[in-house]
Amino acid sequence: MAKPRIAILGTGNMALALGKSIMAAGHFIAYGSRRPETKNDFHEAAGTESRIWGYQAAIDAGEIVIITLPYKEVAATARKFAESLSGKIVIDITNPFAAQPNNGQSGAQVTATAIGEDARVVAAFKTNFAATFEQPSDSTGEPREVHYAGDDEEAMTAVEELIKEIGFKPIDCGTLAEAVVLDHMVPLMIRLDATEHASSHKSSWRITAP
Ligand SMILES: NC(=O)c1ccc[n+]([C@@H]2O[C@H](COP(=O)([O-])OP(=O)(O)OC[C@H]3O[C@@H](n4cnc5c(N)ncnc54)[C@H](OP(=O)(O)O)[C@@H]3O)[C@@H](O)[C@H]2O)c1
Repeated sequence: MAKPRIAILGTGNMALALGKSIMAAGHFIAYGSRRPETKNDFHEAAGTESRIWGYQAAIDAGEIVIITLPYKEVAATARKFAESLSGKIVIDITNPFAAQPNNGQSGAQVTATAIGEDARVVAAFKTNFAATFEQPSDSTGEPREVHYAGDDEEAMTAVEELIKEIGFKPIDCGTLAEAVVLDHMVPLMIRLDATEHASSHKSSWRITAP
């Protein structure tokens, strides 16, 4: 069976890290950019078999859409393209930081509300540093974990599969509402990476065996 085509909105650090990993796993990738005509260097780095288009064309080309924008852009973008995002699996990797507490909602819930009816949002990759994607196993040889959470069973299974395909270990963290915990883990992750690993940006979370 053909692997689902992936749209990635944004052409920054996480777009590049995720896009390269997912393309190496055999998926078609279309990046969505505000100014695709200026992204030649990114295109070289990402692999020229990928495509870089505007947001609408990228969304239309993807069966799964990954949002890798600054958090402040996410709700407005989801609202603007709601009709096209509705019914598609949308992976929200963005981190609200100062925009928390969102009235207690997770960032991914806010994204789902912006898309509206038939939103199928999964929160994932929020707690993984971009620099870790080139090395899916850590220095102990164990695969790094990816926390993911959502309400749509089929979307959760598709994201679980994607995480496995790029060599990481999926960790189901519950519902979209429960994804608020992942949002809060990110500032802690950055702090612990600084205090425990000299701001390597290459550390990752692990739940260990009892
Ligand atoms: N870096 C990490 O390790 C990491 C890890 C987990 C999650 N995240 C989250 O992932 C998201 C992306 O992070 P990133 O490090 O990849 O960020 P980044 O390098 O700054 O990339 C963000 C991309 O979003 C697009 N964009 C759209 N509107 C923008 C605006 N007003 N200002 C700047 N860029 C805009 C840009 O692509 P175009 O110019 O092509 O439009 C830009 O390349 C953030 O929400 C972050 O919290 C980051």
